[in-house]
Amino acid sequence: MPGERLSVVVTRRLPEVVETRLKELFDVELNESDTPMERGALVEAMRRADVLVPTLTDTIDGAMLAAAGDRLKLIANYGAGVDHIDVSTARQRGIHVSNTPGVLTDDTADMTMALILAVTRRIPEGLARMQSGEWEGWRPTAMLGGRIAGRRLGILGMGRIGQAVAKRAAAFGMQIHYHNRRRLHRAIEEDLQATWWESLDQMVSRMDILSINCPHTPSTFHLMNARRLKLMKPTAVIVNTSRGEVIDENALTRMLRAGEIAGAGLDVFEQGADINPRLRELQNVVLLPHMGSATVEGRVEMGEKVLINIKTFDDGHRPPDLVVPSML
Ligand code: DGY
Repeated sequence: MPGERLSVVVTRRLPEVVETRLKELFDVELNESDTPMERGALVEAMRRADVLVPTLTDTIDGAMLAAAGDRLKLIANYGAGVDHIDVSTARQRGIHVSNTPGVLTDDTADMTMALILAVTRRIPEGLARMQSGEWEGWRPTAMLGGRIAGRRLGILGMGRIGQAVAKRAAAFGMQIHYHNRRRLHRAIEEDLQATWWESLDQMVSRMDILSINCPHTPSTFHLMNARRLKLMKPTAVIVNTSRGEVIDENALTRMLRAGEIAGAGLDVFEQGADINPRLRELQNVVLLPHMGSATVEGRVEMGEKVLINIKTFDDGHRPPDLVVPSML
C-alpha cells in the first residue's frame, strides 16, 4: 500500500549507525541478542518480512525459500559472499538477492598480506616468546624467517580482492602470478605485472606462496584438493582469506603435519568455527577468526550498501548490487 513502510528483518547486530538509519527508513526488526537465528526462526522471519538482511552465518537453502511464502521480495545480504544463499532458487521464486561488493576489498587484501608476513616472518611465535617472558635478547640466529621479496605469489581468483592483493604484493617486491576462470585484459595484467597461468596445476607447483581469493561456488569447492595440494612445493605457504570450502581442510592439515607444505595462514575454515582441532596444534600455521574484512570503516560501508540496495528496491528500481546466478 502506498506510504506503507517496508518490513525488514535483520538477523545479526550491525554497526549502530547502520541500525539507526534502517530504523529511520523502514519498519525494522533487529536481533538485539545477536544470537544466530535457527533454521525455523529464519523461515518465520522470511514469512513476515518484505526484506531479509542476513549475513554469512545464515544458511538459506531452497527448502527454506519454498517454506517462506510469498511476502519476501529481497534478500539484502550484509556481506559480499553469497554462498550461504541458494541464489538460483531465490530467483526462480521472484526474490532478489543483493550483496555488498567492493567495500571490503582493501581490508581483505591487507589481511592477506598480514597473513603472508605472519607465516613467513613467524610473527605469532615472536609475540608468544615476548608474552611468555622467555626472550633473552637478540641473537644472530634467532627467529629466522623467509624474505618475501623476490618470491613467487600465485593468486587463485583474480577478481577485485585478488587484484588488490597483487598490487600490495608487487609493492613488497613479490613476483605476481595468477589463475582465473577468465584471463584479465592485457592492460590490467601489465599494470599489475601479473603472469597468467591457464593451468592451475602448473601454477600451484611453481609458487612459493599461494593466496586463495576466489569465491566459494560449486565449481571452486575443494579446488585445492589433496591431489593439488600435493603439487605444492614443500617449502610453499598457502594463505586463505576467501572461503574455507575452497581448500580440503583435512588434507591440508595432514600435509602441514607431515611437513609436505611449509606453512599456512587461514582466516576461513571449511566448517565455520568448527575447525580441525589438529590445525590449532601446529607451529607453522597462523589462524584468524574470519576477520579479513573486520574494520570499523568496512562494516559501516557494508551497511550503507545494504541501505542503498533496499532503498533503491523500495523506490521501484533494480538494486545496484543485485546478484544473478550467472555471476556465480
Ligand atoms: C563477506 O562479506 O563475504 C566476507 O567474507 C565477510 O568477512
